[in-house]
Amino acid sequence: MKIPFLNLHNVRPALAILFGTCLIPAFAPAAAQSLPNLFPFPNQTGVSETYNANGAAIDLTGPFFQSLGTNGRSCSSCHRPSQGWTISAAGMQALFAMTQGLDPVFRPVDGSNCDHNIDTSTLAARRQAYSLLINRGLIRIALAVPANAEFTVVNVANPYGCSDPFTLSMYRRPLPATNLRFLSAVMWDARESSPQTGTQKITYSTNPADLQADLAHQALDATTGHAQGAALSVELQREIVNFEMRLATAQAYDYLAGSLSGHGATGGPKTLAQQTIPTFFVGINDPLGGNPLGTPFTPVIFNLYDAWTNNPSSSRRASIARGQALFNSKPINITGVAGLNDDLNMASISGTCGTCHDAPNAGDHSLPVPLNIGVSDVNSALDVSYLPVFTLQNKTTLEIVTTTDPARAMITGLWKDIGKVKGPVLRGLAARAPYFHNGSATTLEDVLDFYNTRFNIGLTAQEKADLVAFLESL
Ligand code: HEC
Ligand code: HEC
Repeated sequence: MKIPFLNLHNVRPALAILFGTCLIPAFAPAAAQSLPNLFPFPNQTGVSETYNANGAAIDLTGPFFQSLGTNGRSCSSCHRPSQGWTISAAGMQALFAMTQGLDPVFRPVDGSNCDHNIDTSTLAARRQAYSLLINRGLIRIALAVPANAEFTVVNVANPYGCSDPFTLSMYRRPLPATNLRFLSAVMWDARESSPQTGTQKITYSTNPADLQADLAHQALDATTGHAQGAALSVELQREIVNFEMRLATAQAYDYLAGSLSGHGATGGPKTLAQQTIPTFFVGINDPLGGNPLGTPFTPVIFNLYDAWTNNPSSSRRASIARGQALFNSKPINITGVAGLNDDLNMASISGTCGTCHDAPNAGDHSLPVPLNIGVSDVNSALDVSYLPVFTLQNKTTLEIVTTTDPARAMITGLWKDIGKVKGPVLRGLAARAPYFHNGSATTLEDVLDFYNTRFNIGLTAQEKADLVAFLESL
């Protein structure tokens, strides 16, 4: 079924801005207490929806939506239902314009490019101070270099200040606070699932209690950090975790394909929430011997659009189905990926997108194995010139590397962990551009350009378009 008024191509961006970014304040009564289940939030290519467990409305008065600290921020300042439970760059631009850069998300603690020597006194000054948040949806993450690190930081070139070599400022996209049931690691660098931070590695035998404990710790850290508050009570931590764990988010309608659960397809959040065949577990469908049940790997990661393969009924549906097949089968020669090629001692691995995005119909990495695919590299195929450059030197070998984000190495202190981040869940993508942990992919086309260059995949223009159509429908 198509929603007729949403079919007007030329008004799409305007609608997306209006509805997608600010529907609650603009259209709902000021005191809206809840969000109806499966409430439709338009974006560039369709509508994303969230299914709350048991079909209940989403309570907008709970702790996730309350100011829990001292700077007016709530979890929902950076994890917005309308923006895939994270923030999009378009959403931040609209919010900045609407509030003159005064919404609590715009706070110097970590919303501005640096937290000292900045001017936020005028609109123009704020636009400059918060440029990374406005243009890329980035939050400043400051972490201390671990005491036992195998490296020293010999130089920091940060165009915004914040060039302390002992506490590094990195710039990262908020991860969606939804679809959490599929996680095998919390945070890009898995720092909330790491003994180094007093949290727990997520494993098959301890899941989901480990995940719940990690998320509780994460909520505590988010309150003292982002919200500049006091320690969050155990009760509120638990309430927030229970709330987050109930959410499943996915694209539900596509302007050109119609319902993504129509004609036998199984897209949309409801099937995702109720997915029991197969039920996720840590290590499910690992291609490289890590499945705890020993079940053989299937390269068919996604089967949502199988029904449209032979009976598509529209060219957009045909394209989505072709994109799904490409995701599941297009050969990729994986080389030079730290965490894979080095650890397995295989110079090249013949894989697919699903080698790393292996969790069935979720698309994240089912094992907690952060990887360095090169997104933080100074010479990435995408523009990373807006990011700081860190020069790291190995204390033993004296080898030097430069990177825009040492990532996992800032937690473990290990040289081999430089640049490693987790493979995120791939659902609800259309609601939350830009992509990658540093926002360097403005669009999903950029994501594919990155992979095409990095792994020399040889994607044709048609294959790229099909893969994009598929990713937009997740
Ligand atoms: C100022 C913005 C901001 C606020 C406020 C905020 N977060 Fe986040 N959140 C982020 C960023 C940025 C990340 C990713 C950081 C990283 O990985 O280094 C993140 C990551 C997460 C993740 C990890 C998801 C995953 O896939 O690993 C969860 C869960 C989360 N936040 C929940 C919360 C909760 C709960 C609160 C409120 C207590 C909150 N956040 C407040 C910005 C924010
Ligand atoms: C070698 C492992 C690997 C392969 C192969 C791989 N990915 Fe990824 N993917 C990752 C990792 C790791 C990240 C996170 C990178 C980052 O943000 O720095 C990621 C991120 C992404 C994102 C961004 C998600 C977000 O929330 O920002 C998309 C989209 C994506 N991959 C799609 C694909 C597609 C499509 C293919 C096949 C063409 C593919 N990936 C192949 C490991 C891989």
